[in-house]
Amino acid sequence: MKVTIYGSGYVGLVTGACLAEVGNEVLCVDIDPGKIERLQRGEIPIYEPGLDRMVTENSKAGRLRFTLDPAEGVAHGLFQFIAVGTPPDEDGSADLQHVLAVAGAIGEQLQEYRIVINKSTVPVGTADRVRERIEQALAERAAQIEFDVVSNPEFLKEGAAISDFMRPDRIVVGTDNPRTAELLRALYAPFNRNHDRLLAMDIRSAELTKYAANAILATKISFMNELSNLAERLGADIEQVRVGIGSDPRIGYQFIYPGAGYGGSCFPKDVKALERTARDCGYQAELLTAVENVNERQKAIPLRKLEQHFGELKGRTIALWGLAFKPNTDDMREASSRVLMEALWAAGARVRAYDPVAMEECNRIYGKRGDLILCESAMEAVQGADALVVITEWKEFRSPDFFEIRETLRQPVIVDGRNIYDPAQMAALGYTYYSIGRGPRQPG
Ligand code: UDX
Repeated sequence: MKVTIYGSGYVGLVTGACLAEVGNEVLCVDIDPGKIERLQRGEIPIYEPGLDRMVTENSKAGRLRFTLDPAEGVAHGLFQFIAVGTPPDEDGSADLQHVLAVAGAIGEQLQEYRIVINKSTVPVGTADRVRERIEQALAERAAQIEFDVVSNPEFLKEGAAISDFMRPDRIVVGTDNPRTAELLRALYAPFNRNHDRLLAMDIRSAELTKYAANAILATKISFMNELSNLAERLGADIEQVRVGIGSDPRIGYQFIYPGAGYGGSCFPKDVKALERTARDCGYQAELLTAVENVNERQKAIPLRKLEQHFGELKGRTIALWGLAFKPNTDDMREASSRVLMEALWAAGARVRAYDPVAMEECNRIYGKRGDLILCESAMEAVQGADALVVITEWKEFRSPDFFEIRETLRQPVIVDGRNIYDPAQMAALGYTYYSIGRGPRQPG
């Protein structure tokens, strides 16, 4: 089948590569000439395990192509996926200008029936706006061509995007046309093998499903973070509480890990956008506001622990392990590391940072500055530092050489923002150890 995808960012590229992988002819359209040139040369602009190979092989096989030309895009695919960015506006609502620009371009170029599919995370009601924009462009040309608009939200996790796409929990398709649902069922059949994972529903419910999924996951995390702060004050251990509640299948073990707050491109943005959508229809979504506030406060906790230990942070050097908002990605959007680094700089402290893949991204965001030293290895970051903070739970940080770290740090202090170490072991190794929801441990 022929597929066009607008937007060669995270969602667009993964969708394109995976649809090509199962034999479709995919054409990716983007307005960024630099990006298209690099993709045509086989360079992948984002870090995602497995994506590199998939793009290279499918490009070689001629099933995956890249272009700047929207006219070519409209002519190519029966399926027209919109996967462009929806960054948050100042007021927290999703900015739809890129989505609507693609809709306008489709309307200008449309020659025969097409299915226009919203893959970007867009507020409820966007499918109607996309339809209106296409109709408007058609009216300007006095053209009458049939098309459908479908909502098909994406549930990819960064770092596991390929397997999430190839083996989805569910494929949500929102459409008011049963024939279109059948065409999408055929397109998704290769990912739908063992049992039918395609859930056809009305358009607005599909649009809301995406926000509902992200909001409930963010809520679980903020709930645990709230309880972790309470556990500390009560002298309880949140990790034991986590296991205690997770064993109830109605609660489950996933997404109840306390930590230094959630980041990334989805949770912070989507919780704010849903809160904004609620306000727009006259409803005050109290829980969403709280989820957001708890997360903001949580991101500041590693700094609070450093202040608790050192008092004044001016002139201190802090080693930071992890910059990405979570392991297996170089994405630093809304990362807790940024909140910590910026607060440390504001307090007059220096940061020696290391991340297995996000160093370049960090350099791109902050550039050269005297109070940020980007280190080549985890051990190098610790050199000459007063304390070590772990903010992203990369595998390589799980079992480091604690003896060497203790000898290298000016003071044996570790702030563990993801609870990856055992407090008793850290105390036995001679560390003052701070973590989330467990109370500090002194050496011995
Ligand atoms: C998320 C959703 O999981 C995905 O379905 C959706 O399509 C996009 O948003 P992603 O942003 O890639 O995916 O990251 P995810 O793995 O969900 O983690 C989000 C953040 O929550 C990370 O900062 C992570 O550290 C944090 N987190 C996650 C916790 O703090 N505790 C947990 O228990 C789980």
